[in-house]
Order: sequence, then structure tokens, then C-alpha cells
Amino acid sequence: MTEQSPALDNLLTESRTFPPSDEFAGQANAKADMYATADADREQFWAGQAERLSWDTKWSQVLDWTNAPFAKWFVGGKLNVAYNCVDRHVESGHGDQVAIHWVGEPGDTRDITYAQLKDEVSKAANALSSLGVVAGDVVAIQLQMVPEAIFAMLACARIGALHSVVFGGFSPTALRARVDDAAAKIVITSDGQYRRGKAAPMKANVDEALQGAETVQKVIVVRRTGSDLEGETPWTEGRDLWWHELVDGQSTEHKPEAFDSEHPLFILYTSGTTGKPKGILHTSGGYLTQTAYTHNVVFDHKPGEDVYWCTADIGWITGHSYIVYGPLANRVTQVVYEGTPNTPHEGRHWEIIQKYKVSIYYTAPTLIRTFMKWGEDIPAKYDLSSLRVLGSVGEPINPEAWIWYRDKIGANKTPVVDTWWQTETGAIMISPLPGVTAAKPGSAQRALPGISAKVVDDTGTEVPHGGGGYLVLDKPWPSMLRGVWGDDERFRDTYWSRFSEQGYYFAGDGAKYDEDGDIWLLGRVDDVMNVSGHRISTTEVESALVSHPTVAEAAVVGATDPTTGQGIVAFVILRGNAVDGGDDAVQELRNHVAKEIGPIAKPRQIMVVAELPKTRSGKIMRRLLRDVAENRQIGDVTTLADSSVMDLISSGLNSGKEE
Ligand code: WT7
Repeated sequence: MTEQSPALDNLLTESRTFPPSDEFAGQANAKADMYATADADREQFWAGQAERLSWDTKWSQVLDWTNAPFAKWFVGGKLNVAYNCVDRHVESGHGDQVAIHWVGEPGDTRDITYAQLKDEVSKAANALSSLGVVAGDVVAIQLQMVPEAIFAMLACARIGALHSVVFGGFSPTALRARVDDAAAKIVITSDGQYRRGKAAPMKANVDEALQGAETVQKVIVVRRTGSDLEGETPWTEGRDLWWHELVDGQSTEHKPEAFDSEHPLFILYTSGTTGKPKGILHTSGGYLTQTAYTHNVVFDHKPGEDVYWCTADIGWITGHSYIVYGPLANRVTQVVYEGTPNTPHEGRHWEIIQKYKVSIYYTAPTLIRTFMKWGEDIPAKYDLSSLRVLGSVGEPINPEAWIWYRDKIGANKTPVVDTWWQTETGAIMISPLPGVTAAKPGSAQRALPGISAKVVDDTGTEVPHGGGGYLVLDKPWPSMLRGVWGDDERFRDTYWSRFSEQGYYFAGDGAKYDEDGDIWLLGRVDDVMNVSGHRISTTEVESALVSHPTVAEAAVVGATDPTTGQGIVAFVILRGNAVDGGDDAVQELRNHVAKEIGPIAKPRQIMVVAELPKTRSGKIMRRLLRDVAENRQIGDVTTLADSSVMDLISSGLNSGKEE
């Protein structure tokens, strides 16, 4: 690691620790001896976790790693994932337990019991089958946080179809690329969504995306905004179907078929270092085993007692693993909220926690920092005494935010678990155990029982305590990705080539051991930015910028941002005949990126420059651009082809083109 920001230096001098209370430790699902048990026989340990699920046919082998990096877990086993998340809870007598307390943004609510969930999922499964969807087909889903999103995902799982959920904020272009790449047969969306008190169209964007899409046979539309949305919902006769017309009349009887443990469950696209998103492939038995296990031990979840709330969107892996699969497999009662945290007021989350007596709350550092900005007097107005575990995910959490979270939300008594994982890992990998670990603010600390992680140097040698390097996962794990959709070579290249000799998985994150051997995550070491916990590649934004007719060249960097973790800063050279880069031109480019990728990729700042800093061989020196973007003294410029370039750029940037 060559670069380190002052914030990271602060992290590394943090010395406070917060052990669990005796009371919490005594009742915890995971006790300290779990590490040793797992170490003694890893495969036996995971077999024990898999036994928490219901299998139609038991596996004959826990792990087959002979064809590495393509893993097979619970070889020969057969199960139905949806049955495990729904039916078995009804069969064990919990049909009346609420599975989902759904809260709509405008304030409408819906409580869905496990018996009702079983009916809804069965009807949706019958509906998909009636359209000719069979095991192995791909169903794309672009939906906001409505119950139908969860019904649809589980219906796919039930019939062995793969879902590919596309975040609602992604543009038509981004949706289309994902639909084409996976050859999706069906798309499920809604007429519109409520966002900050207003109804905004969804279906219209989907229609734009699907013009000429050859693989898509049917589009199923959930009615959500109805007449609140201006104008008619655009409709293609013969292709489009209303969810309620298609699903409501279906039978609630549906026999779940058992699929192979390695049967594909879903694809989820994530940004890599190139412009093209990767379809991360997850399969059934291992994925469900590890999501259920981690939800059980990291959040200390007690079925039928706890009320759990993960604030993620189902468009991201956190929504897949910790709203749908892990929690439902564990018979959760959970809150699902449709809207933004400040609609209609900044106390919305606390009001919901008070109302439903939420006991486990899992969110992202960017939101915690936003709550801090809004002020501690807002949560102070609500009764949050039901909370007993707080979780964080998506980026390193700075100690200040960690302490505020524990203190102002957790009454200075709840354990805070900082969970490190990725779309690719499928489930939590590094995290404190709330009843065991003396938590350190800002550190994810230690690989969970059954998981193995190391910090290594360039040569793959583990660094000593106190040393920094790259985070690797040195042993296969049940919920690991099984590949990149349609691109085995990219799978090997991206994750397995860097430390191929050792056979380590390269996570793309920098990390450091402290003196106790606890792990501190230091951010990405590749060209991937982390904006509000969302992964966006610099190349993807650069491609979007150069696709605009006025742009000749673009370089994008992630600059430290007090709220969003990183902010996107772009440097562009305009074409010779383009007018000078005034405010309108910059605004136009920001909108263009939003249109190409989605609003989350809109650069915070765009700087029109005459030159970009390049080495003599023509490589853009992003390091220097990051220095400029973060208002730092510019580093070593001796390898620059033209050393005056940096003076030009920094004087221009500081003269204020900021948005
Ligand atoms: C990247 C994965 C895992 C679900 C959300 C993001 C960063 C994630 C932490 C954490 C430090 C973290 C890493 C990782 N990250 N959690 N607790 N501490 N960094 O999933 O979009 O696949 O992004 O997010 O850089 O590689 P994702």
C-alpha cells in the first residue's frame, strides 16, 4: 500500500475496546469455543451448519475443491431454497408468525405471516411456470422495496429459475446490458415508485431499456403508484402483464422441487475494474448454509423473539443475503421499508424501530454519518430501548461514527458488529461475534469460525502483526461465488491470478493487522470506488463520460468524502470543437453519466482540463489526480511527461468548479 489518508491513520491508533456484557455473552448463539471447533475440522463444522437446513437428499461430500477455483459444496445434496425459507416454518407450526412488517413510504403498511408468504410465493411460482419459465431460465427483476420483490425472488428459487435483480436506481442502459448479458426471458418491475414523497415512473424506463431486447418474452408489472403517477403506464400488448392479473388468481398449491446443491440460485451484477459489470453467480446449498449461519451468529438472531431490520435494498447483495435468504431461512420477523430515511421526516427510522420494537438493526456507515449530521436530538426523541445488536456494512466505519452509533442509537450498551464481505463472498466473512469479541471501533477484527482470511504482501507472504498488505481468503467457503456469468477467464483473472501460486482469493481490499492480529480494512486497492457503500468502477464512469460527444478523454478518481466515504471526481478533456467547459457543460456531463449508469454514479465534481497527467508511456497518473481531488500536496511528479500539467490542474480545481 503506498497511499494512506489521514482518516486511516486515525483508525490505526484507536485503542478503545468494548467487550460484551456478561448478560449478552451468556445468552449468545455463538460462544468463544466455536473458533476452535471450526478449526479442528472445518468440513465437519460446515456440515453441522448445513444441517440447520432441510435437505431432500443429504450430501455425500462436504467440499469438492479438486477443480479449483470452481468449488462444489455439499456434493450430491438436494434441497429447495424457497421451501427452506418459507414452507418449513409453516410446517413447524409458525404459519401465524409475521415474516415481514412492510412499511410503505407514504405510510401504508402490510404484515405478512409465513402462511401468507407461502401462498404468495406459491402463486408467483405457478404464474412464472404458466409463462413457460423453467429451471435454469433467467428472470430479471427491477423493483423497489415492495413485498412482491421478495415474492418474486423466492418464486424463482422455488422453480429453479435464476433471478437477476437490478437496482431500481440503475438507468435503462444499465438494465439493458444486464438483461442482454444474462439473456433474461422475463422482466418484473412496477408501474412507478414513491421516492421522497413523490411518485416516479419505473415501467417507462424499463420500456426504454427493452426496446428491441430479443430474449425478453414477458414483462410483469406490479401496480404500486397507480393513479398517483401522472399519465398512463406505457403498455405493450401481448408482452406486458399486470402482476395482480397474472398472480392473484393462481393456485396457492405448489410443490417445491428439490434441486442440486450446486444448482444456480441467482446472478447479481457488480462493478469490476473494467467498464463491463460482472454477473456474479451464486448457487444453492452452500450459499443458504452460510447466509443462515452468519445471520444466526453475527446478529445473534432468536427466531420468534427478535425483530430484525436490514436497511439495504434488494438490488444489492446485502438485500439478497440479509433480507431474503439468511433471515428467512432462520424464521425471522423483519421490517422491510420502502422509502428514504428522511421521508417524511428525519426520524423515520427511529419511529419505525419504536413502533415495531426492532431489536437488531443493520445499516451502512454512510447512513450513520448522515444521521450524525442530522443531529443526535432526532433519535433521542424515540424509544430505541428494544435494540440489542447493531450492524454495519459496506465500507470501513470510522471510529467516530462507530462510537456515535453505539452511544446514540445503542444507549452505549449494544454490541456493534462491523461486517466485512462482498458480493462475491455471498455472506459475511470477517466480523466480531457480538457475545464473544471485545469490539474495537473501526475494525472488522477476525474471520468468523469456519472462515479463513489473511493479510499478505506482494509475494503472498503473510505480514506480521502491525503490518499492512492485501486481504486474501486462503480457504474456500460455502457461499463463495461460483463464477462470473459466461466468463470463466475473467473469474480466474480477477480473483485467482494475483496469488495463483498460493491458491488465494484476492479480494481487492487493502488491510492491516494490529498488534493483536485483528484485521482493519483500508479500502480498495484497485480502480473500484466505494460511494455510499456502492461499488462503482472508475473505468465505467470514464466510459460513460467519453461516450458524450463533447468529451475527448476522461480520468476518474474516488476522493475521500466525509459522508459518502468516497466521492467521484472526474477530470475531462473536451474535444477541440466543443465550447469551453462552463457550468452548463459540466452539469450536462453529470446528467449524462446518470443517464448512462444511474444517479449513484453522478460525479460529485467534474473538472475540465487541458491535459491529464501521464507518464512517458502514456499511463494516466491517478495518484496525482487523487492528491488534487483531496486537496493534498501533490506527490512525486518526476515520472510525469510534462511536469507543468499538475500546476494547471490544481489551480483550476481550487478556483471552484465544485458542485
Ligand atoms: C466491498 C464490497 C458486502 C455488502 C456491501 C458491499 C467494502 C464492505 C466493509 C467493511 C470495510 C467494507 C470492501 C469490499 N466493504 N464491507 N465492513 N469494512 N470495507 O458489497 O458492493 O460487493 O462491495 O465493500 O471494499 O471489497 P460490494
